[in-house]
Amino acid sequence: MMEELDKWVSRVAESFFLFIFILSQSTFAQEGFVSIACCAEANSTDPITNINWTTDSPFFLDRVISCQKISKPVVSQTGYNEARIFNIASGKRCYTLPTTEGEDYLIRGTFLSGASEHSSFGVSVGVTVLSLVRSSENSDVEGLFKASSNYIDFCLVKKEGAPYISQLVLRPLKDLDYLKDFPSSVLKLVKRINLGGNGTDIRYPNDTSDRIWEPKSSLGPTNQFIARPSNQILHFKFNVTVKAPIEVLRTALTDLNRLEILHNDLETGDSDYVVFLYFLELSDMVRLGQRVLDIYVNNEKKSTSFDVVGNLSNYNEVVFNVRANGSLNVTLVKAPGSVLGPICNSYEIFQVHQWDPQTSPEDVEVSLKVKHELLMYNQQNKVFQSWFGDPCLPLPWDGIFCERIAGSTVITKVDLYSRNLIGPLLPDITELTYLNTLNLSSNGFSGVIPSFPSSSMLRLLDLSNNDIMGPVPQSFASMPKLEMIYLGCNPHFENELPSGFNSSKLNTDSQSCSMERPGSMKRRIFIGSVACGSFLLTVALVIYFVRVYKQKLIPRGRFNGKGIKGHPMMKNVIFSLPSIDDVAIKSISIETFTLEYIEAATEKYRTLIGEGGFGSVYRGTLPDGQEVAVKVRSATSTQGTREFENELNLLSAIRHENLVPLLGYCCENDQEILVYPFMSNGSLQDRLYGEASKRKTLDWATRLSIALGAARGLMHLHTFAGRCIIHRDVKSSNILLDHSMCAKVADFGFSKYAPQEGDSGASLEVRGTAGYLDPEYYMTHHLSDKSDVFSFGVVLLEIVSGREPLNIRRPRNEWSLVEWAKPYIREAKIDELVDPSIKGGYHAEALWRVVEVAWSCIEPFSAYRPCMVDIVRELEDALIIENNASEYMRSIESSGSNHFSVVFEKRNVPPAIPTETSPTLTQNLAPPEPR
Ligand SMILES: *[C@@H]1O[C@H](CO)[C@@H](O)[C@H](O)[C@H]1NC(C)=O
Ligand SMILES: *[C@@H]1O[C@H](CO)[C@@H](O)[C@H](O)[C@H]1NC(C)=O
Ligand SMILES: *[C@@H]1O[C@H](CO)[C@@H](O)[C@H](O)[C@H]1NC(C)=O
Ligand SMILES: *[C@@H]1O[C@H](CO)[C@@H](O)[C@H](O)[C@H]1NC(C)=O
Ligand SMILES: *[C@@H]1O[C@H](CO)[C@@H](O)[C@H](O)[C@H]1NC(C)=O
Ligand SMILES: *[C@@H]1O[C@H](CO)[C@@H](O)[C@H](O)[C@H]1NC(C)=O
Repeated sequence: MMEELDKWVSRVAESFFLFIFILSQSTFAQEGFVSIACCAEANSTDPITNINWTTDSPFFLDRVISCQKISKPVVSQTGYNEARIFNIASGKRCYTLPTTEGEDYLIRGTFLSGASEHSSFGVSVGVTVLSLVRSSENSDVEGLFKASSNYIDFCLVKKEGAPYISQLVLRPLKDLDYLKDFPSSVLKLVKRINLGGNGTDIRYPNDTSDRIWEPKSSLGPTNQFIARPSNQILHFKFNVTVKAPIEVLRTALTDLNRLEILHNDLETGDSDYVVFLYFLELSDMVRLGQRVLDIYVNNEKKSTSFDVVGNLSNYNEVVFNVRANGSLNVTLVKAPGSVLGPICNSYEIFQVHQWDPQTSPEDVEVSLKVKHELLMYNQQNKVFQSWFGDPCLPLPWDGIFCERIAGSTVITKVDLYSRNLIGPLLPDITELTYLNTLNLSSNGFSGVIPSFPSSSMLRLLDLSNNDIMGPVPQSFASMPKLEMIYLGCNPHFENELPSGFNSSKLNTDSQSCSMERPGSMKRRIFIGSVACGSFLLTVALVIYFVRVYKQKLIPRGRFNGKGIKGHPMMKNVIFSLPSIDDVAIKSISIETFTLEYIEAATEKYRTLIGEGGFGSVYRGTLPDGQEVAVKVRSATSTQGTREFENELNLLSAIRHENLVPLLGYCCENDQEILVYPFMSNGSLQDRLYGEASKRKTLDWATRLSIALGAARGLMHLHTFAGRCIIHRDVKSSNILLDHSMCAKVADFGFSKYAPQEGDSGASLEVRGTAGYLDPEYYMTHHLSDKSDVFSFGVVLLEIVSGREPLNIRRPRNEWSLVEWAKPYIREAKIDELVDPSIKGGYHAEALWRVVEVAWSCIEPFSAYRPCMVDIVRELEDALIIENNASEYMRSIESSGSNHFSVVFEKRNVPPAIPTETSPTLTQNLAPPEPR
């Protein structure tokens, strides 16, 4: 066979063909090439390829970057061995390269790993995240895309450790028609193989678009190698456009019966792939019908009787789309009746990524102007570490908050609170169409307040604690949505208000002027400066109600613009709201029960509903008919005395509608017994993924109101009497649900007062439950309310995803809910994250709010986590958004009066869910498992 082939090959000169079209060798043009050598000291030209490389030093002005020579383990094929390392705390770094709109391009980053520390980071083209690069291997990330504007961002999105990059190239694809069927996708290169090649990679100038073709000399033991010697010119019969370069087509593999292209190393999880196969019949003697093959992709027959010379040319190519998970098997089988076995010269496999739309171009433009203005005065400021590429996607710039409104991503909040920024206030920021909150407080901004356009959506403007001068521009009198301007603590501010300005919207409160500026401490999600403290809390609540109520008049999302302005009922409603918290200590009377009474109520401990290390929980009924749960510490158990007393002490001092109340206790005959109301709807855990969840799915609105209830309970603890009580065992099994599904936080056995000034704060014993435990607390033993915040973040993730915080029966990378969720959150892949059983049953923005809160709660550094006060506020917003859709529409229709209060109460009283007849309370009041 081989001999036969060789004969054909050698006889090529004698053969006669009509050559209509001969592909000429490339002109060696580098037209449109951008070749960046990161950290190179100067521009240079590669002596072999003639590619002109430029240094990347103009891209980065600041110094939070460094260069490193890569010595291990391999040097790149081009011999280049520098890498730029971005030692950034968070966010992304981008290279922005020029493109021509509508043209197709190849973009490729080369990541040579020299890092001694482990790192991993995402790589995005535009805002589409293509790949995760890990420092354990050198890698290239290549994408093919159609330019949608006159630039493209190539970004490294930090995950762990420091991102790095060695080279970045952009190549026009000219008329290589890869994207014809994928106009709104990025094709991420998986493999580009030159079959039969056994030398080095083929790239520019042999490939005019500088694609890199990796040689592969065999696919299987019986493969044969065929080639046209390089001194023979290759002819293409007929007028065909040839995608693969000639040098690649010059070699091929063949076999008597089958060629099997097997890749088992693809990403796991279903993805769409596209496979290009290239064929050039290297023997001029082969006629129609002589080399015919059937093509299978992952055991599915994709092509029957494919004739390599079937299109009258000797060149042919086929394209297959395939959905695959982890592996691809492309098998070429000799078709029945074919004389010769299959041949293949080269192939490419791409993963198809949907092209994610960028942030609204207007907002991008404004944000770049703002960045530029800020940079003029604040070159070295750390806030700009992430201000590269798109302002919102895939990660927003530090201090910028975005939402999807009317189908595009826009900037809605700018929070640069306390970032040590100086310079004049930013006039361009007023051009952000959807900006509703601007917080520049506690900086060193000076100058005058810029004038906003009358169409501005601005609700809150916080310029307090700066050095702003008056006056308030006239435009503020007519801004329709404006609720409040904070201008306190600006020593040079003259209280000059425009005519017609409602002075109740101006707050020049100077009480907090002496407040220490938190310096470098970042506040990433939340606006305002409410600390965990009872006084500020009260203030915050008042502000909050005003905000919420006005907010109702500014419908968001899809109701945008349809709202009714200034409903007359509003003002009356604001202050008739039920007060959420009464921070003052109430004197609570806890009853003392006799043992006899308890025995009667529980019918001598007949119904056991939970058990734990300290004893058991029984169900009972008081003489007045109230159902109770009775927690009994067994006389033999030494464990739990302290917890028992702790809980008793705490619960006799504190009471809140979202904390499980203590009805009474009994201390007789060495028995220690606590009596609580029975929570007929079990625990949140049970409802999310326990037995109860199998009977009925917990709908999203109820989940949200449970989250809010629990958050309020914790907020109450954290702000209790001005001194923080830390729960230390926040978890979904400690969030119980009463008959109306109102959430109540339970189990205060481990709760503690927060360390006060003077206390060391470090304690020897770390308490908590695996999966919920704050890593910082675990490592430093330093207890703070932020440890509860972390655990609560995990609970929020459970609520969103319906997954357990820790499950070692899942694949290794999914054991921990937090670790599993992080990449999806970072890439905003909500669909992957959300509990399949509530798919379609939520308002996306509300869900996203909750995810955002969860994300900030699980910050590794406790200083970056929000307070419960902030969390409650965000969850309230989320619930309003969720309820707005239906409630708001209903309220417009009903001409009835007081409908805003209806809306509000609705938030507190979750949708009634019928109480099940056989409630399970297993574990509910039991202490956590021993750990
Ligand atoms: C590459 O650099 C060389 C030397 O500086 C220059 O002559 C040549 O024009 C450059 N080529 C391109 C395509 O820019
Ligand atoms: C390097 O090349 C770039 C792009 O051609 C040019 O803008 C820059 O001035 C050059 N730098 C040096 C140091 O020659
Ligand atoms: C492939 O490798 C073999 C053995 O090493 C060598 O004889 C042959 O010339 C190589 N072919 C090409 C095209 O480099
Ligand atoms: C690629 O092109 C270079 C320069 O034209 C040439 O010397 C080399 O032989 C080619 N490589 C292959 C593998 O054909
Ligand atoms: C080959 O086809 C292309 C596009 O289909 C056309 O522009 C070109 O004129 C054709 N060449 C010949 C020689 O027919
Ligand atoms: C690949 O596909 C072919 C054709 O469907 C099949 O015969 C072969 O067993 C497959 N190989 C593997 C490793 O799955």
